[in-house]
Amino acid sequence: MAKVYNFSAGPAVLPHQVLAEAQSEMLDWHGSGMCVMEMSHRGKEFMEIIHDAEHDLRELMHIPAGYKVLFLQGGASSQFSMVPLNLLGEKTSIDIVNTGHWSKLAIKEARRYAKVNVVASSEDRNFAYVPDESVWQRDPDAAYLHYTSNETIGGLQFPGVPSTLDGVPLVCDMSSDFLSREADVGRFGLIYAGAQKNIGPSGLVVAVVREELLGRARADIPTMMNYQVHADADSMYNTPPTYPIYIAGLVFKWLKEQGGVKGMAARNEEKAGLLYHAIESSGGFYHTHIDAPFRSRMNVVFRLKDEALDEVFLLEARKNGLAQLKGHRVVGGMRASIYNAMPIEGVKALAHFMQDFARQHG
Ligand SMILES: Cc1ncc(COP(=O)(O)O)c(C=O)c1O
Repeated sequence: MAKVYNFSAGPAVLPHQVLAEAQSEMLDWHGSGMCVMEMSHRGKEFMEIIHDAEHDLRELMHIPAGYKVLFLQGGASSQFSMVPLNLLGEKTSIDIVNTGHWSKLAIKEARRYAKVNVVASSEDRNFAYVPDESVWQRDPDAAYLHYTSNETIGGLQFPGVPSTLDGVPLVCDMSSDFLSREADVGRFGLIYAGAQKNIGPSGLVVAVVREELLGRARADIPTMMNYQVHADADSMYNTPPTYPIYIAGLVFKWLKEQGGVKGMAARNEEKAGLLYHAIESSGGFYHTHIDAPFRSRMNVVFRLKDEALDEVFLLEARKNGLAQLKGHRVVGGMRASIYNAMPIEGVKALAHFMQDFARQHG
């Protein structure tokens, strides 16, 4: 099998060790004689798997007491409606920061249920920056403040966690930088993340929610959309996505062996640094429009000065074992997604390729 470094934005590369382990356990999980996919979700084997996954995640993120971990379904997109339906309570408005494609979708969906106050937007400069908090127009009476810590398509990342206003919970779509750097969970009311970047297979969503925010859901919402229902049932209200939860559990164990989130964050800085250096030192052959402090450590978005070379770049890259570098269709150009599971060797290979390509075609 030819070695390929997979730079897909999601579903994305998973740790080789995790895939190999899943392969070795495929037909017989720990002597049970069953594949995890075949097990009853209420059987003792799967109960052990989900319990360990939650335990390891709590350890990795240092989740304090008073928070529930939920394993949900429907992709992160389902959260764009679940969040307002569950957290609006008696309030009528929501604060949201607009930093790109995924924020805009969160805004669009939330508008179906509430008045949305866009506290700040960087659309004026094509989402090249995160607006400074000093200019945010916050509503002290908002049900919560929602932001997207990493815009997967635009390649824009919040450098840190925004400050909160007293009594206004912070809600974060952390889909594409979950577990990639340390975050003080105690500052959040709710963190949610679709799994297919740093956690495991698509479909699964992990939510970490402060318990005191539960119980505010509108009475008329579908049962499956109610956090409280899932929290009360320990994510077992219905059949959960068992295999994705099992893979997520293996990823969490792998992450612990890599030095946890702290170890991973240092590696992610180094990886991103290599690619941004390759862009900046190319004499303009490659460029990124994102302001330096906000460049994503997970999705490095860049363009070639001569876009006529895009197809050649992608073809040559693929021949060199560098796959799925094409930018998202709404922004074009290139995107190298370098999530936790992308080894530094893959990033070095890409940086070298970029330098060689620029020399040949510049
Ligand atoms: C930041 C962010 N939010 C939400 C989503 C939507 O996720 P899903 O396709 O799982 O619904 C994505 C998908 O890539 C994303 O990157």
